[in-house]
Amino acid sequence: MAEIIDGKAVAQDIRDGLGNAVKELEEEGITPCLATVLMSDDPAAEKYVSMKQSDCEEVGIATRDPEITAEDSAEDLYNLIEELNNDPEVHGILVQLPLPDHVEEQPVIDQISPQKDVDGFHPENVGKLVIGNPRFKPCTPHGVQMLLDAYDIETEGKDAVVVGRSNIVGKPMANIFIQKADGGNATTTVCHSRTQDLESKVKQADILVAAAGVAEFIDGSMISEDTIVIDVGTNSVERDGERTLVGDVEFESAEQKASAITPVPGGVGPMTRAMLLYNTVKAAALQNDVDVSLPKQ
Ligand SMILES: NC(=O)c1ccc[n+]([C@@H]2O[C@H](COP(=O)([O-])OP(=O)(O)OC[C@H]3O[C@@H](n4cnc5c(N)ncnc54)[C@H](OP(=O)(O)O)[C@@H]3O)[C@@H](O)[C@H]2O)c1
Repeated sequence: MAEIIDGKAVAQDIRDGLGNAVKELEEEGITPCLATVLMSDDPAAEKYVSMKQSDCEEVGIATRDPEITAEDSAEDLYNLIEELNNDPEVHGILVQLPLPDHVEEQPVIDQISPQKDVDGFHPENVGKLVIGNPRFKPCTPHGVQMLLDAYDIETEGKDAVVVGRSNIVGKPMANIFIQKADGGNATTTVCHSRTQDLESKVKQADILVAAAGVAEFIDGSMISEDTIVIDVGTNSVERDGERTLVGDVEFESAEQKASAITPVPGGVGPMTRAMLLYNTVKAAALQNDVDVSLPKQ
């Protein structure tokens, strides 16, 4: 039976550590501040942003909630980002995705100052991660790395298999695993929708990261004994007439086979949220040239 990897508990430890780092910054007269830009009427996006704001509040990070609506133009959004880029009291800028159809995503990401890009999506930060000199690692894969570290799960020399190749999860996860650094040095396979014989790739994994967004499509029969299963997938499905969240991995059968597994919810999700706070505190420290003690990695 697999050990359950408790993302909630690890995320709480990280938030506690960040609370101390925020106090160190306060002693230097700096209050870290995250601007959350919401250009959507979608209730789910509104909920994500309000959760991120209350996470900030909990550790002492200030927030800005600038005015922009789903009907505004791309130009309005660029102008707002420029204002935030130039505001010395704002250290991190988060643009909640997805954007409305009339606003293209990549030019917006490109517009955010790389020093304030706490999602780690700007090409400069992507490049820095790839060459092994990361400034901000994207929150979800960074959270996975922290989770493995918290459970003393060695990545060096292991076969890591990442299912999914998105810019926000799969690709940066693979880039973290292949780095010649602590928490890396894994032999890494990346699978996607065109992968032939996914099952044989998944079976070879010492560490499996499932990030395809397909409800429960990997089950216990597809994984080997002793695999560490990290389930990033967050899929809303109907069960017994009610909506519920499930991962990309079928938990009950995988739990019988794996040596450790993250639940959904309560695994990777809380870590993603904690790593946004981490990047915001780091951004404030870097912009002010102050050393603070951040949780490891
Ligand atoms: N827990 C968290 O904090 C968190 C954070 C972010 C995302 N998520 C969840 O993680 C999942 C992935 O998110 P994302 O943004 O990376 O999704 P995405 O942009 O839709 O990317 C999905 C990736 O999975 C691949 N894929 C889809 N179906 C597949 C299949 N049957 N076999 C193999 N590969 C397949 C796709 O391949 P192609 O490239 O060939 O299309 C694509 O690379 C979603 O459920 C999302 O909600 C959770």
